[in-house]
This record gives sequence, structure tokens and C-alpha cells, in this order.
Amino acid sequence: MEKTNVAIVGLGTVGAGVARLLLDHGDRTARHAGRTMWLKKAVVRDKSKTRGIELPAGVLTTSLQEVIDDPEISVVAQLIGGLEPARSIMLKLMESGKDIVTANKALLAEHGPELFTRARQLGRSIAFEAAVAGGIPIIANISQCLSANQIQSLEGILNGTSNFIVTQMDEHGASYDEVVREAQRLGYAEADPTMDVDGTDAAQKLAILAHLAFGATVDWSEIPRVGIDGLDPDDLQYAKELGYRIKLLASANLSDDGLELSVAPTLVPIGTPLAEVRDAFNAIRVAGDAVGPVFYHGLGAGQMPTASAVVADLIDTAVGRTRLTFQTLEYFSIDQPPRALLREADSLRCRYYFRLPVANHPGTLASIATVLAKHNISIASVIQHDSGPGAPQRDPVPLVIMTHEASEGAASEATREIEMLDAVTGPVIRLRVEE
Ligand code: NAP
Ligand code: HSE
Repeated sequence: MEKTNVAIVGLGTVGAGVARLLLDHGDRTARHAGRTMWLKKAVVRDKSKTRGIELPAGVLTTSLQEVIDDPEISVVAQLIGGLEPARSIMLKLMESGKDIVTANKALLAEHGPELFTRARQLGRSIAFEAAVAGGIPIIANISQCLSANQIQSLEGILNGTSNFIVTQMDEHGASYDEVVREAQRLGYAEADPTMDVDGTDAAQKLAILAHLAFGATVDWSEIPRVGIDGLDPDDLQYAKELGYRIKLLASANLSDDGLELSVAPTLVPIGTPLAEVRDAFNAIRVAGDAVGPVFYHGLGAGQMPTASAVVADLIDTAVGRTRLTFQTLEYFSIDQPPRALLREADSLRCRYYFRLPVANHPGTLASIATVLAKHNISIASVIQHDSGPGAPQRDPVPLVIMTHEASEGAASEATREIEMLDAVTGPVIRLRVEE
């Protein structure tokens, strides 16, 4: 049987999972690839570190050069996180004739055009299914299976760590710090978990999806983003009272005005598919003009789901499918003009959730309602909990307002004015509501 020699660079959570699949399930990968997928080298920084996997003699090395110099190794799973040395290593590997499989979305979101252009110049390919939504095959689905469509919108839970944290806080009352540590222990979080919880990771994944779905060349850092790091457990409770769960949603909407992108904690109605996505699961709802809505759900972080996507890419590369797709689709080509222009979020319309600390005295609600009315924002419901008969009243007291649909511009201006009212004693929390 023909053999494809594979190397892994970076044997952390994902790398060790990839090695495990290649070593423990060689028969299966050989059957699916029509050839043996042979792990020839795994490059690490420290050979003495325990990695929860036993490698055959001679596989583990600290020398990247051994891979570069080995003409028998044709494809490399580059599984180092961050920008450098990941970028330089990827360039060196491609220059030495290797095709690349990677899970590093930060690198692709930041340096995609450079890396993909270089790959094309060198006649090499880069496969990156694992870079977005872990085990969900969303890259192949958007770029190949849905290619008859104009994608109109896309909403996703794209960060497993954030979803794990919010689920544990919401359903088990767990403390934020405790759950972040648990997400790190389980291998969901990035080396720097700030990127998970502040919306950066989701914005980087959204930038990649926006490129595939809408042909937009997006600077991920320009996507308006709010993470879950500032989320107050009180908002999870009030949302539930109103019939919603809060999810970190990455959204893309295409209209005649352009493409609107955002990452933000959003209220999603309980009982709808997105609201029921728990823990490290991810989900993406894509609407295409021909196919209509399609929903994907699966584990978006963690060792084996991510390794599943990496190994599928290794097989696709070994059999030549990646090269074909890579050449046809011209991913991240710097010569391609953006097909979709980013529009200001101000024109986006949705319902809003407001929570604000207010003075518990007559006229407070009227003053807030006046500001909302001035901006043509209609109130749908209000919650203020009474302390009960005879009990001392809280002052200030949290006031929660759910609005009917309003524009982002009006909601943001109203927020600014409400915060200036005497009756409002602290910052206003404002979240979008998805229907
Ligand atoms: P990780 O556990 O931190 O592993 C990264 C590995 O790279 C570490 O083992 C590290 O070595 C190694 N490394 C760093 N610099 C190196 C160098 N110069 N030479 C050789 N090895 C080097 O990270 P991970 O969770 O596996 O993630 C890897 C990539 O996959 C990241 O881009 C991440 O965003 C992406 N990803 C992760 C998941 C997930 O669920 N974990 C899911 C999808 C995508 P040491 O062991 O010596 O520190
Ligand atoms: N840290 C990422 C997450 C890994 O939690 O979603 C998957 O990309």
C-alpha cells in the first residue's frame, strides 16, 4: 500500500490527539485514505515533557530541521498556537516543499493573505478545517457543499471555552474564575485564555468564515466585539426570567447596505437550537439563498474533536483533494477585491435588553421611558423585584427593560443619555436579543 509520511509540529493538546488518531487507528485512516498515513516525526521543544502519548522510537525530535530536510515527509500538521514562531515555521515548511494542515485561527486571521499567497507561489496547500468550530466541518461546508448559494447570514457559537463558562455559571452557579481554570484543564482554552473570554478568538473565526462565505477581506480586529469576561451572573438570571439564555454569538448579516459583523453576548430564546448549545459545543446557523437555513452542531474545542478535523485534512491533503480545492477557491487571495463591504453596525435592528441600577423613587421609570421614547424605542417588558411587604426596599435597585426592535444607533445613543440621568446610579448593561 502507498504511504504518506506525516509530521506534527507542536505536540500539545491537539498535536497529541492527532498523534493518537494516526497511531491507534492506522487501519481506519489507511482505509479512508487508500494509503498508510505514517507519523514519521513529531517536533517538540522539550523531549522530557509528559504528553499522555507514547510515540514509537525515533519519532519525537526537537529539530524542525529534520522535518525540513526529509524529502519523504510531504505533509505537516502545524499545531503551534500564536503568531510567532508559528508563521515563520509554516513559511519554512512550505518553502521546503511540505503541504500544511493547521488549527491556528489566530495565525490565519492575522496573516492569511501572506501565507496563502506564498503557498500558491510555491505550489503548496494549506488546510484549516480545525481552525473554526473544532470538529464541525464548517470550512468544507461553506466553501464546497454550499457553493451554489449566496450565503445571506451566519450566526454561531464559535468559542467553546466561553460557552463552557457561561453554561457552568448559568446551570450550576459556578464561579467565573473556577470555570476558566477548568476550561484550561480540559484543554479547551487558548494558551492565553483572555483571547477566549474577550471575544478575540470568536472574532478571528468569524473573520475566516466571513472570508469564505461572503468573499470579504476582514481585519478581525475591526469586528465590534464584546466577550463574556464582563458578564454578570445576574444577567443570566434575568435573561432566564424573560425566557432567554445568554450566548456569545458571532454574527454576520449581508444586506443591500453591506456586511455587518459582530461578536457579543446575546439573549437567545430558550428552546431554540442555539440556546440549547451547551458546554464546549459550538453551533453555526447558515442561511443560503437556495438551501435556506442549515444548522451545524458539535464539539468546538477539545483534543479529539479538533484532532478529528486535523486528521481529515491530512487525509484530504494526502489524496490530493486539498490541492484541488485550494487552487480553485483562491482562499485569502490578495488580488481578490472584497465582494462584500463592511457596513456600520448603527443600522442593525434588533430587540435590546437593558439592566441598570436606579434610584428607587417616583419618576425614575418615567425619566428612562422618556429617553427611550425620544429615540423611538418602545418598551416590551420591565422587571423590578419588590423586596416584599414590610422588607426594606433596595435603593438603588436593578431595573431590567426589554425593548421592541430598535436600531443599534438609537439604542447606543439612548444608553449614553440614560447613563447621564440623576436617577441612574451606575453603568447600563445593554445586550442584543436574537429572535
Ligand atoms: P497547546 O496545548 O498549547 O500546544 C501547543 C504546542 O506547541 C505545545 O506543546 C508547545 O510546546 C508547542 N510549541 C510551541 N512552540 C514550539 C516550537 N517552536 N517548536 C515545537 N513546538 C512548539 O495548544 P493546543 O490547544 O494544542 O492548540 C494548538 C493550536 O490549535 C492553536 O493554534 C489553537 O488555537 C488551535 N486549536 C486548539 C483547539 C483546542 O481545543 N485546544 C481547538 C481548535 C484549534 P510545549 O509543550 O513545549 O509548550
Ligand atoms: N480555545 C478555542 C475555544 C479552541 O475554546 O473555542 C477551539 O478553537
